[in-house]
Amino acid sequence: MAAMFWLLVSVCFFFHFQVEASKPAKLHIVYLGHSDPELHPDAIAESHSSLLAETIGSEDASEALIYSYKHAFSGFAAKLTDEQVDRISGLPGVISVFPSGISKLHTTASWDFLGLSVDRRGRKHSLSRVGGSLWKNTDYGKDVIIGSLDTGVWPESESFSDEGMGPVPSRWRGICQAGQAFNSTLCNRKIIGARYYYKGMRAENISAAGDFFSARDKEGHGSHTASTAAGRFVPNVSLHGYGNGTAKGGAPFARLGIYKVCWPLGCSEVDILAAMDQAIEDGVDLMTLSLGGDPGEFFSDAIAVGAFHAVQRGIPVVASGGNAGPTLGVVSNLAPWIVTVAASTLDRNFSSSAVLGNGAVYKGESISYKELKPWQYPLIASKDAFAPTSNSSRSELCVVGSLDPEKVRGKIVACLRGENSRVDKGHNVLLAGGVGMILCNGPAEGNEILADDHFVPTVHVTYTDGAAIFSYINASEHPTAYITPPVTMSGVKAPVMAAFSSPGPNVVVPDVLKPDITAPGVDIIAAISPASGDGSYGSMSGTSMSCPHVAGMIALLKAYHPEWSPAAIRSALSTTATVVDNKKNHILTNALERATPFHFGSGHVDPNAAAHPGLIYDVSESDYIAFLCDMYDSVAVALITGKQGIDCSTVAQPASALNLPSITLSNLTGVKTVTRFVTNVGDCVSTYWPKIEAPEGVSVSVEPSELAFTQAGQTLAFNVTFNATMPRKDYVFGSLTWKNYKHKVRIPLTVKAALA
Ligand SMILES: *[C@@H]1O[C@H](CO)[C@@H](O)[C@H](O)[C@H]1NC(C)=O
Ligand SMILES: *[C@@H]1O[C@H](CO)[C@@H](O)[C@H](O)[C@H]1NC(C)=O
Ligand SMILES: *[C@@H]1O[C@H](CO)[C@@H](O)[C@H](O)[C@H]1NC(C)=O
Ligand SMILES: *[C@@H]1O[C@H](CO)[C@@H](O)[C@H](O)[C@H]1NC(C)=O
Ligand SMILES: *[C@@H]1O[C@H](CO)[C@@H](O)[C@H](O)[C@H]1NC(C)=O
Ligand SMILES: *[C@@H]1O[C@H](CO)[C@@H](O)[C@H](O)[C@H]1NC(C)=O
Ligand SMILES: *[C@@H]1O[C@H](CO)[C@@H](O)[C@H](O)[C@H]1NC(C)=O
Ligand SMILES: *[C@@H]1O[C@H](CO)[C@@H](O)[C@H](O)[C@H]1NC(C)=O
Ligand SMILES: *[C@@H]1O[C@H](CO)[C@@H](O)[C@H](O)[C@H]1NC(C)=O
Ligand SMILES: *[C@@H]1O[C@H](CO)[C@@H](O)[C@H](O)[C@H]1NC(C)=O
Repeated sequence: MAAMFWLLVSVCFFFHFQVEASKPAKLHIVYLGHSDPELHPDAIAESHSSLLAETIGSEDASEALIYSYKHAFSGFAAKLTDEQVDRISGLPGVISVFPSGISKLHTTASWDFLGLSVDRRGRKHSLSRVGGSLWKNTDYGKDVIIGSLDTGVWPESESFSDEGMGPVPSRWRGICQAGQAFNSTLCNRKIIGARYYYKGMRAENISAAGDFFSARDKEGHGSHTASTAAGRFVPNVSLHGYGNGTAKGGAPFARLGIYKVCWPLGCSEVDILAAMDQAIEDGVDLMTLSLGGDPGEFFSDAIAVGAFHAVQRGIPVVASGGNAGPTLGVVSNLAPWIVTVAASTLDRNFSSSAVLGNGAVYKGESISYKELKPWQYPLIASKDAFAPTSNSSRSELCVVGSLDPEKVRGKIVACLRGENSRVDKGHNVLLAGGVGMILCNGPAEGNEILADDHFVPTVHVTYTDGAAIFSYINASEHPTAYITPPVTMSGVKAPVMAAFSSPGPNVVVPDVLKPDITAPGVDIIAAISPASGDGSYGSMSGTSMSCPHVAGMIALLKAYHPEWSPAAIRSALSTTATVVDNKKNHILTNALERATPFHFGSGHVDPNAAAHPGLIYDVSESDYIAFLCDMYDSVAVALITGKQGIDCSTVAQPASALNLPSITLSNLTGVKTVTRFVTNVGDCVSTYWPKIEAPEGVSVSVEPSELAFTQAGQTLAFNVTFNATMPRKDYVFGSLTWKNYKHKVRIPLTVKAALA
């Protein structure tokens, strides 16, 4: 099958590149706010053409216009010179004109990947997660439509079977767009729509060579995320016989609308925005995006713009926070209307050990289907094994062509992590005739161990253990080692935050906590693209993988509580999240320190608890207007929201006043009171009492001292007063929990008490 597709690639896949006019024009997004529901989309598109024609001349305009965004919001993408940008920015009705960036997928493969794509040879394996009542209560997310913006899908995967599923919901307006190796009959009652967006990449002159020019997934990432969110039960799958079980997604009876926006070299923001506009129009119930760009101001950030209009229509948007950790302040997808997801481990590992000639044993992990004979093999440090044409700083990383077969043959090679992909290193060891690999972290990766599917028997070890192994090699005349075959362990201490998961604070609006929540994103095994290798299921890590877990849970919550707003769903997930691990200890970072809300937001998701949160922190349209008014003027806010008569000078509220399920004060001087509103979604008559864990050096009080609800749907306000008694340089963390006999409704408190 793969060979046939490759043939098609070479015969009929090429891009037409636009020849550039004399002035250097760059791809921009012109954002014009809400789309007038009174106007036909064609009329809106017409207004874009004429606006552009008036500014840059009608001849150039037809070539410059790349997309009209005309369904859920209004705007367009065009190639513009600096001078044209200035002219358009000054026109009435224009909120922002910003250059289109290239967003990245949030797998760790892209994090320590450089250039060379080595196939992940995925085999079938089990996924076990979300269970219990919410599945049964919602018929497994029946009929909720998840819009997935990613690298496309492998529609033939067993995870996307539509067996036993009812007819496509009649409200669905999407299509099954035909393209290379993807005809319009390939959609089914599971994958109910598929489209692909490439005009932005073409306008940027970025090659999509090697990919399918259609919604078919080459990379595997899109199939992985879609099957994590909504894959069917696929029984009796295992990866090389490890971890047998049933592969399944979060909402196995949900439907999928596939929007391919990512190509081998990234995802153009103009394409992402076009897909979001269309997905809203097609009728998705929620959107999931395992990708992101650099953190940016909200209305100069395509995902934030698209998400705002989705949320305005009641469509939750969940996005990955990025893999730029562990450095603080690197999280992306920062708008308060997006559910931003961090990544942490599962309670399963694939335990394997390096046994050295001196008897020392170092525990690590890997998934590799080949086993070594049970004896000691000669061991070499890769930096000592450089080929004559290379040098030790290249061979240390086991990059392609750097290892000398003369030195490596028949040996286990100790390679340093970094630069090229982890799997690529093992591939290079194999090519040089090595029999196994010990993959050693550098100081930056610390304790982060990932179980990849390697080409040679491998064990991945921590920085400390790697350093000990290197000094053993250095000190021994004939160093030797053995690698034990991996064993699937369950009940492992978890979750632990992944070192790669991007932490807060939020660099755009520091008083809005990001990320919102954490979910499993390490060694996640789900469907992949057989075109990326020789398997149907494979292991990947990243916030890309945790994001669709939350998307699956949101689908279940949508099915269970169709009336809940996106903010209510986010609140339910957040206030019921846990901050303790399965050993009843506070969740740790990968460096074995106490994780904070900057790592995990409210904590680790608990979908069954989220179905019954007791209280919710909802956010109304007027709350968002008050928030936006603090950042933009009345005219812009009216255009963005489509509401007339907004007077920002009277309604503006600081970000800390937005009714989020968290309170974050990045610059507390003296005393500050913050008001929150909670709505009763539990028993009609119920009383809650507050429990405060005050951040160190801050006194916190709550007024009133109890919330007595007398009916369902009732909303009550309370004030939280912070008094910084001890200024300090760093953030401090606490929590506020409203409790009754049945519920614990917890929010994190995050404070930096400014130095006077
Ligand atoms: C679509 O593809 C399927 C399977 O590859 C094939 O059986 C079918 O004939 C194709 N249909 C059209 C209209 O090309
Ligand atoms: C676009 O790419 C083609 C082929 O790689 C190249 O010939 C052409 O000069 C490029 N155009 C621009 C504007 O970069
Ligand atoms: C499960 O898979 C194994 C190996 O692929 C096969 O031998 C066995 O028959 C399968 N069992 C079921 C119940 O399908
Ligand atoms: C998992 O499946 C493999 C192959 O089907 C089998 O050899 C092995 O015994 C199974 N392990 C468990 C724990 O079921
Ligand atoms: C090693 O080789 C690389 C690329 O071949 C080169 O860039 C680098 O400068 C070399 N380093 C040393 C220490 O020679
Ligand atoms: C290797 O051993 C030599 C001498 O025994 C020592 O000077 C050197 O510091 C060692 N290097 C490492 C990296 O341990
Ligand atoms: C894997 O889990 C087992 C059992 O909990 C534990 O002993 C082992 O240390 C874990 N391996 C790693 C590398 O964390
Ligand atoms: C913090 O607040 C103080 C007093 O309100 C103000 O002077 C200072 O500029 C603020 N600092 C920042 C970083 O906003
Ligand atoms: C909260 O504080 C504001 C202003 O200080 C006050 O007007 C309001 O009544 C308080 N609300 C509650 C519920 O205590
Ligand atoms: C805040 O704390 C300081 C120091 O403990 C105290 O003197 C002051 O009265 C407090 N202010 C309020 C409004 O509670």
